[in-house]
Amino acid sequence: MTAPLAATEICVFDAYGTLFDFNSAVARHRPAIGPKADALADLWRAKQIQYTWLRNGMGAYAKFWQVTGEALDHCLAAHGISDADAREKLMGAYLALDPFPEVPAMLDKLRRAGKRLAILSNGNPEMLDPMVKASGLADRFEAVLSADDARVFKPDERVYRLVGQRCGVTPDKVCFLSSNCWDAHGAAHFGFATVWVNRARATDDNLPGGTVATIDDLSHLPSLLGVS
Ligand code: LAC
Repeated sequence: MTAPLAATEICVFDAYGTLFDFNSAVARHRPAIGPKADALADLWRAKQIQYTWLRNGMGAYAKFWQVTGEALDHCLAAHGISDADAREKLMGAYLALDPFPEVPAMLDKLRRAGKRLAILSNGNPEMLDPMVKASGLADRFEAVLSADDARVFKPDERVYRLVGQRCGVTPDKVCFLSSNCWDAHGAAHFGFATVWVNRARATDDNLPGGTVATIDDLSHLPSLLGVS
């Protein structure tokens, strides 16, 4: 087991891109969108995250649902798609994104080993809760924590602080998992033992906060924690 993970009491997961596949929204409606679907999906995610950072910088918080819709509107305009039905379908799909295939078995393994599990996401409860419920995984988590309670987005430390406030643990007892490199660095900088789930095989960013391990997907997490 990686030494900093030996103290892990609770595993806290980022939601979008880490437990849930945001590309599944576009994949589900590929026929309605046409050949621009992949480019639209990439730009949508990039703009969604960029807008959260910019709103943090401006001190202009809005719920992640609004930001996600505004990012989508930009992308539809950029790709010359003016189909109100496509917008509605894509936003609707965001409320029921597919979990990545390895997620249910991984969560069950950790639970059997006595690990506590939670989610910490930029998503506001009105979008997170239906998605977690639709996945059938809601009962695996003791808490679904939202940046909406801090009215600011990650990587602002007020968001990471919600874990201690709600789950009553010190940061050294938290193993934080994110597929978003910037989120992983933010969480590590805050003080969580952080594992980067590098699904995209991306190059690491040069940011403060050292992660303790990198894995390709969450199937590797149990062994990293000494759980078989
Ligand atoms: C989240 C985004 C950052 O779930 O993936 O917080």
